[in-house]
Amino acid sequence: MIDRIVEWLRCPQCAMPLQRAEQSLRCDRGHSFDIARQGYVSLLRGGRNPIQGDDAGMIAAREELFARGHYRVIEQAIAGIAARACQSRRDPLIVDIGAGIGNYLAAALEHLPAGLGIGIDVSKPAARRLGRAHPRAGAIIADVWSGLPLADQCADVALTVFAPRNAAEIARILRPGGTWLIATPAAHHLAELARIEGVLSVDERKGERLAATVGESFVQRENHHVRATIEVTKDEAERVLAMGPTAWHLDRDQRARAVESAFAAVEATTRMPLTLSVDITEYQLASSPGSEPRSQARPFG
Ligand SMILES: C[S@@+](CC[C@H](N)C(=O)[O-])C[C@H]1O[C@@H](n2cnc3c(N)ncnc32)[C@H](O)[C@@H]1O
Ligand SMILES: [Zn+2]
Repeated sequence: MIDRIVEWLRCPQCAMPLQRAEQSLRCDRGHSFDIARQGYVSLLRGGRNPIQGDDAGMIAAREELFARGHYRVIEQAIAGIAARACQSRRDPLIVDIGAGIGNYLAAALEHLPAGLGIGIDVSKPAARRLGRAHPRAGAIIADVWSGLPLADQCADVALTVFAPRNAAEIARILRPGGTWLIATPAAHHLAELARIEGVLSVDERKGERLAATVGESFVQRENHHVRATIEVTKDEAERVLAMGPTAWHLDRDQRARAVESAFAAVEATTRMPLTLSVDITEYQLASSPGSEPRSQARPFG
């Protein structure tokens, strides 16, 4: 799959275009990046990156939970909005930043038969899954805060789903008039679990507040609110906690105890209701008239 997206990739060291050379990607200055067996390419700048992203346990929890379809309502909402945003493009490119296992990107590509996708995450366990998220998606390891190893003005839609937002980089990689879709937890998201001590509620996740992070290059368009109640087993509720920010604060035993209290609070035995409440906000890149894709080498970040 890397072959179909390589034209949009840029060297993280010198920002030159990359070409496929056997099992690696190379730029004309001789920087080289191996293609992993699982199909992803690490385009980190080198050395140990200060941010490691989600660990294997968090990624596995996400994979198991999403496979059971509990977040399908959010996947389909994001996919539908992304597809509408690029319906007039012939070969649209969707870039999912902080893509996790790539389920939102894959859902969007299912709505766009001619679309291509690039999933970016700093986490290696995430990239391993991302590499097989969809036959038309490629997987890249990169740190959004060091700059995205992508060409200027390459993407029609950028997705950021519960993930860090680097507005300057998104503005750089979007085509004029392109769309940035940002999904954030809204009030009452996972409320039945968030009542428990140690479990982060939406209010405590101040860093996820939108307005301050989007910047002036974007104009807000529509806001879509998705709310649904799903039914989860204890095991699934524990996975919900294991895949989110609570995992950084509570270990497995503490999460299991938190789930027991949540079940007791609603007098549930085998399954309890759980609220999903998510805002998906559409931002459009303010176009600068007559601008053409810029492909000159320029350091990222
Ligand atoms: C809460 S998860 C959301 C993942 C996915 N979008 C989803 O909703 O299932 C945040 C993701 O962002 C990734 N991430 C964190 N910091 C990052 C960074 N600096 N650059 C790229 N990805 C990052 C994590 O590894 C993780 O996969
Ligand atoms: Zn280079």
